[in-house]
Amino acid sequence: MTSLSREAMLWPENTAEGAHTSCDDGSARQRERAGDAWDQAMNEVEPMTVNLFDWERAHESARAAREQGSVHPATLPNGVRVWVIGGYDDALAALVDQRLRKDGAGLRRILGAQLARLGKSSRTSRMYGSSILFLDNPRHDELRGLVSALFKPRPIESLRPRIEFLVTQLLADLPRDTPVDLIAHLAFPLPLLVICELLGVPTQERAPFRAWTAAMMEDDPDRVLEASDAMEHYFGKLIVAKRAEPDDALLSTMVQLHDQGDLSAEELMDMVILLFVAGHEASTNLIGNGIQHLLAEPRAWRSLGAEPNLIPSLIEEILRFDSPIRMAPMRWTEEPVRYGDVTIPAGEIVLVSLLSAGRDPHQYPHPNRLDIHRNATHLGFGQGIHYCLGAPLARLETQVVFDAVVRQFPRARLAVASSELCHKPSMVMNGIKALPVILGR
Ligand code: HEM
Repeated sequence: MTSLSREAMLWPENTAEGAHTSCDDGSARQRERAGDAWDQAMNEVEPMTVNLFDWERAHESARAAREQGSVHPATLPNGVRVWVIGGYDDALAALVDQRLRKDGAGLRRILGAQLARLGKSSRTSRMYGSSILFLDNPRHDELRGLVSALFKPRPIESLRPRIEFLVTQLLADLPRDTPVDLIAHLAFPLPLLVICELLGVPTQERAPFRAWTAAMMEDDPDRVLEASDAMEHYFGKLIVAKRAEPDDALLSTMVQLHDQGDLSAEELMDMVILLFVAGHEASTNLIGNGIQHLLAEPRAWRSLGAEPNLIPSLIEEILRFDSPIRMAPMRWTEEPVRYGDVTIPAGEIVLVSLLSAGRDPHQYPHPNRLDIHRNATHLGFGQGIHYCLGAPLARLETQVVFDAVVRQFPRARLAVASSELCHKPSMVMNGIKALPVILGR
């Protein structure tokens, strides 16, 4: 077996991201700002000249923002005002900082007031409901404890044969000589099938799932609400069906936990929606971003086929280099919170930019190089009590996929230039919409 040279797994500095004019949908335009406390706080910090929500130039924008400071007030494309933390040290501190609240009721109050001021419905989606992602302790740990055993590395590892089987099936009939979209045919369906099987969601009913999840992660409050309502309706019916006819999967267990008084009806619904959405959307991005960057370096792609033991460290490096989650889901301040020389006032929404932290040059030498030998820690799965519950599952799925594609398709290549790949217009998700590849023979 040949030894994979360090050079083969060092990618060139990835700074220029190309023009991407074909991807622009206007959503990245900054809106006018309003509001007293925020304006006052704005006067005390250097105004930022960078658009952090330009999806196609995300790394360039993040770098420019970091150069102006680690903590910035910003306006989302939908007009909602937030504070973004982008330096690695402050990002890490914020993720574990219990002064930054997660509690969904408080978040819905702040977000609802902002949306109302913008003339939009103040109703927020179920993603900001009572799932563990939007709960503080002690309730967070109680609820997480109800499901966490299933997601530990050992039970997850037992899924390997099933995941290998699904990957084999998904790859079986793909064309070799014409472009095939590896998001639509692999990176999206695999994690979806796996989380559906874990939860006990009938996979034959999955037709609308992609549109729902995509809309939930977008920035347009109307589309988000529409998708959230559709999901609530669907899972409401499924919960009734599982109660009538329980099976061995997680949703039936959760229904049982509800029926014996361990979680409320609202918590049950919000947990199901969280597990369903979190359980596939970010993994799709990790697989898609990873294949995209690997294909940019054909020699590395082929070498990896010969040395699959390097795949786990490659996955960690991709989580740093192009974080599948752009910004960790919202936190909020109950009291003024200071990072470095910036004070975020009380009652503000805070976003931690994992994408930016992953390329902070103070933390990582040559941050714009994908270096499989880096062995560095990253914040891609978050940190603290909200650390990703599904990290072992996401790692396993990605490992099985990478292992299969590099071995089966040593001559695979991108069917379009990297600069033509368009990103999802999402504040939370960092992934490409489609990945056309010629798999080759
Ligand atoms: C590459 C794939 C994934 C990435 C990058 C990712 C990333 C993250 C991050 C950054 C957080 C922390 C959010 C915060 O602090 O606000 C998180 C939380 C969470 N993730 Fe993942 N995730 C992935 C896959 C999954 C999968 C497959 C599941 C399946 C169940 C999952 C379930 C969750 C849950 C339930 C939480 C909330 C944990 C809590 O609040 O205690 N994730 N994830």
